[in-house]
Amino acid sequence: MSVHVENVRRVTTRRLQEMKIRGEKISMLTAYDYTMAGIVDQAGVDVILVGDSASNVMCGNTTTLPITLDQMIFMGKAVARATQRALVVVDMPFGSYQGNPEGAIASAIRIMKESHCDCVKMEGGEEVIDSVRRIISAGIPVMGHLGLMPQSINKYGSYTVRATGDEEAEKLIRDARLLEEAGCFAIVLEKIPAELAKLVTEQLSIPTIGIGAGGDTDGQVLVLHDMLGLNCGFSPRFLRRYANLNAVMNEAIKHYVSDVKSCDFPNDQECY
Ligand code: KIV
Repeated sequence: MSVHVENVRRVTTRRLQEMKIRGEKISMLTAYDYTMAGIVDQAGVDVILVGDSASNVMCGNTTTLPITLDQMIFMGKAVARATQRALVVVDMPFGSYQGNPEGAIASAIRIMKESHCDCVKMEGGEEVIDSVRRIISAGIPVMGHLGLMPQSINKYGSYTVRATGDEEAEKLIRDARLLEEAGCFAIVLEKIPAELAKLVTEQLSIPTIGIGAGGDTDGQVLVLHDMLGLNCGFSPRFLRRYANLNAVMNEAIKHYVSDVKSCDFPNDQECY
C-alpha cells in the first residue's frame, strides 16, 4: 500500500539552519486551529507555532499559565493536519516540564505521538537544561525561549522588556549558549534590547527568532491574532498590524444580522 505525499518540500530544522547560514530570514507565526493554520501555511510562513498564547487569544485567560497539555495537543493535531510545508512547533505548557526531566520527557512524547507536530518549544535556560537534554536525547527537536518568558509572569510581575541590566543580559547569553550546546535547533528571543539580540545571534550557530528583539535576529515571530488586528486591546511597540480583521468581521456580521432582521436573507436563490 502506498501513502500519497504532497509534492511540497517541507521546512525542517536543518533547512532553518541552512537559512541562517545563507542569511535568509525565517518567518514564524502562531496558529491554533485547522482553518487558520492552512491559510498561514499556504501563504508561505516557514514555521508555525502552536503557542501557549492560545491561553490568551483563544481562551480569554489573562496569562499563559492555565492552558493544559491536553488542550495544546488538541490544537497541535488540528494545525498539523492543515500544514503541508511549514515546520510545526508546539509549546510545552506551564507545568508540563518544570518538575523534572522524567515528567518533561513524558509530556514531550505525548505531544509528538498525539499531535503529529514536528517539535516542541520550552521556556528557560539553566533551570530546565536537564529536561531539554533528556527530550533531545529521545530524538525530539527543541526550540528554546529566552528573554520575556510569559510562563514566569508571576516571578517577574510585569511584561516589560527583559535583560536591560548587565546581570540579566549576561545570564541570557550564558543560557543561550547552554541551549545551543544541549542541541536546541533554534531559540526565540522575546522582548529584549535589539543590541543584545544581535550579540546573541552573532554568537550562536543556531537561528534566533525574535519578537520585540529588533531586526538582527535570524527570524521574526508574531502572534497571528495580533498581527491580523483581530484583538485590538494589545498594542506593544513591536507589534505591526498587517490588517484590521476585527473591523472587517464586525462589518460583515452586522450586515448579516441586518439581512436576517429585514428578511433579506435568505433570498429565493438561497432556498431549496
Ligand atoms: O506562545 C506564543 O505565542 C509564543 C510567542 C510569543 C513566541 O511563545
